Amino acid sequence: MSTQYRVAVIGAGSIAKYSHVPGFQRLPNCEVVALCDVNEARARELAEEMKVPGVYSEAERMLAEVRPEIVVIATPNAFHGPMTIAALRAGAHVLCEKPLALTYAEAQEMFAVAAEHNRILTVGTHLRLSAPMQAAKAQVDAGFFGKIYAARTVWQRRNGIPGFGSWFTNHDLAGGGSLLDIGIHALDRALYLMGYPEPVTVSGATFAEFGPRAMGLGGWGSDIQKPAPNARYDVDDFAWAMVRFANGAVLSLQVAWASHSPETLTTELYGTDGGAQISGWEGMEMFTMLNGQEVAIRNQPSNDRVSSYFKLIENFVRRIGGDESADIPTPAQALVDVRIIDAIMRSAAAGHEIAL
Ligand SMILES: NC(=O)c1ccc[n+]([C@@H]2O[C@H](COP(=O)([O-])OP(=O)(O)OC[C@H]3O[C@@H](n4cnc5c(N)ncnc54)[C@H](O)[C@@H]3O)[C@@H](O)[C@H]2O)c1
Repeated sequence: MSTQYRVAVIGAGSIAKYSHVPGFQRLPNCEVVALCDVNEARARELAEEMKVPGVYSEAERMLAEVRPEIVVIATPNAFHGPMTIAALRAGAHVLCEKPLALTYAEAQEMFAVAAEHNRILTVGTHLRLSAPMQAAKAQVDAGFFGKIYAARTVWQRRNGIPGFGSWFTNHDLAGGGSLLDIGIHALDRALYLMGYPEPVTVSGATFAEFGPRAMGLGGWGSDIQKPAPNARYDVDDFAWAMVRFANGAVLSLQVAWASHSPETLTTELYGTDGGAQISGWEGMEMFTMLNGQEVAIRNQPSNDRVSSYFKLIENFVRRIGGDESADIPTPAQALVDVRIIDAIMRSAAAGHEIAL
């Protein structure tokens, strides 16, 4: 019989309900044994609905009593670092939600603790495992693009500010807004295809033009405040950045929770032999020269409807079981993501480019 893993989830909000608990419950070698939330009633309600036996309101107590092999951190961002470290020290492998950490230094410390305790720590940047991204990665590996010298990656929403007035828009609990929340997903998509080159300079700017006017609200989140006029909002809702890498390549990042623009989730690659536009879910269009002609090739949309989140959970558990081929964000990859986001925030605050 294969090893059985007991899984505990800290934070019983939206992502726990829709991704983590059902995702681990689908795996025959995992059992979700406990849920922990400061809002104990919420944890209890989800536990009853999804038949999870343990309910806790204090993470330390749960870790000490349950001693789970796997812990998922699905709390507001500010708790990701401390809770991940506590779970690693309690002997668990950890899937921490994105953003992994609020600063590069914090992320480095988290991976140092994981290494010290010989545990696997990964992060919920799952979009790499979507069908269009996997199709693009196969083309990168096959050499379709030649040398990739530039990329543009965009996640802009028209009205998608999450959890207005909740932790999502409170800087002390979220650490930032759109950049940390969806910027890290857009960034990771590009870096995955570029091979996580080493960043050398970063120039970024952030804005908060919609949230303070209670405009562009997405309407989701567990503790949203309605009506909203005096709700706290001190995070960004728009961010642009330019990154230069040691290998000479450049990356342009555009992020918005809310903006006067169409909804866009896309990553564009520019290579010496070919280029591509990779959409969020629909597929990919590739561009190259064929027999002296400029051609565009639309790849056949995949029939693969397995969610990229479930694939990440599945790969994480396979990796814990020793399968080195299971694709999850590695420490080196996750650190490049956090390092760039950290530098964009510092560049935006300073008003000029930052050298790393
Ligand atoms: N990977 C993805 O695509 C993805 C998608 C959605 C959310 N997320 C991330 O997941 C995390 C949670 O997001 P959400 O949408 O579920 O938010 P949410 O507000 O719905 O849930 C957060 C939960 O954490 C609980 N909580 C707060 N402080 C706690 C503490 N100290 N200990 C235990 N529980 C605590 C809250 O009571 C709440 O129930 C965030 O970091 C977010 O960025 C990731």
